[in-house]
Amino acid sequence: MIDDVLVVGAGIIGLSVADALAREGMTVRVLEMDRVAGAASGAAAGMLAPLSEALVHEAGDPGTNPLVHLGLESLARFESLCHRLREETGIDPELVRSGLWRPVADGRERRAAQAGFDRIGPRAGAIEWCHGGDLEVALPGLARGIPGAFFSPLECHLRPPLLSRATAAALRTRGVEIEEGVAVLRLRTEGRRVVGVETHSGLRRAGRVVVAAGPWTTALLEPVLGADGLPRIEPVRGQILALQPPLPAVRGIVYGADVYCVPKRDGSWIVGATEERVGFDRRVTAEGVARLLDRARALFPSLASATFERAWAGLRPVEANRWPRVGATDVEDLFVAAGHGRNGVLLAPITAERLRDMLTGKRPPSRDALARDASA
Ligand code: GLY
Repeated sequence: MIDDVLVVGAGIIGLSVADALAREGMTVRVLEMDRVAGAASGAAAGMLAPLSEALVHEAGDPGTNPLVHLGLESLARFESLCHRLREETGIDPELVRSGLWRPVADGRERRAAQAGFDRIGPRAGAIEWCHGGDLEVALPGLARGIPGAFFSPLECHLRPPLLSRATAAALRTRGVEIEEGVAVLRLRTEGRRVVGVETHSGLRRAGRVVVAAGPWTTALLEPVLGADGLPRIEPVRGQILALQPPLPAVRGIVYGADVYCVPKRDGSWIVGATEERVGFDRRVTAEGVARLLDRARALFPSLASATFERAWAGLRPVEANRWPRVGATDVEDLFVAAGHGRNGVLLAPITAERLRDMLTGKRPPSRDALARDASA
């Protein structure tokens, strides 16, 4: 049988694209060399935090940063997405409308954060400044030297492994086959058109192929795209850990300048994350864990006596220009959806929607379905 679409990669991007296409009535097959959400999607803390990601990790003016616009647009999809997945599969992705705290170290950091929120404007929601006794109540256990924190009400979090599992379950109920443990060896083309992929267990033919293989995308595309137009996506390791804190419950993500703490429903805190260019090395290292613990303890000193639950690592797929590659390629019927860097979970719904619109003809084919000038 020839499927309408073959998706390479069962991370949250590939699964979300497959879900959007299957819901249009297309026959879809997903191939995954490892297991569902076995790489970055399984490692992520699940923050849906476009403002803080832009303010802390992106250079330039946050007021015109397209990540903010797209991230907010995608964030708005999660309430109904999680509701639908819960209804369809019984799996709850544990979306928590927690808000996010952005503690600042001093007056300079406060002014910089305020200026960033001001540039973003009303889209940021009702940002509040909190200090003194209010801060002690809101963030019990926060280090004494911290003068205050901004509260960003729109930003929130969920559990990426549950979101992935729920999306995979929804796909299976629609008859989508997800083949795990099947590595794609190469793309099969006829002339300048893709017709399927070759795997160690044979050829899979399809009308169209979407490569959503995270940092493995470039290697798969290179033989057919050559150097021109090839998305350059590299792995950036993120080590992350889970603690059971000896603290009263904190509601909301705490997003510092070099570490974030995400209190989950079960009382655990996810603490992340390193950013390391070490190729495809997915090890957890002593130094990575030590660095995260030091930074987290600088925010919450009593974390020194937290129970250490576990540590793990994922490889973020980071595109050379720090912008996801979503859209058509120079090879007919070959599409790409990869390179979402620190924001794969956040941008999954909007990525799936835009690619779906391209594959169903609602949008003209283009190499940049997320249109970088969206915020202009
Ligand atoms: N989005 C958080 C991270 O990549 O660590």
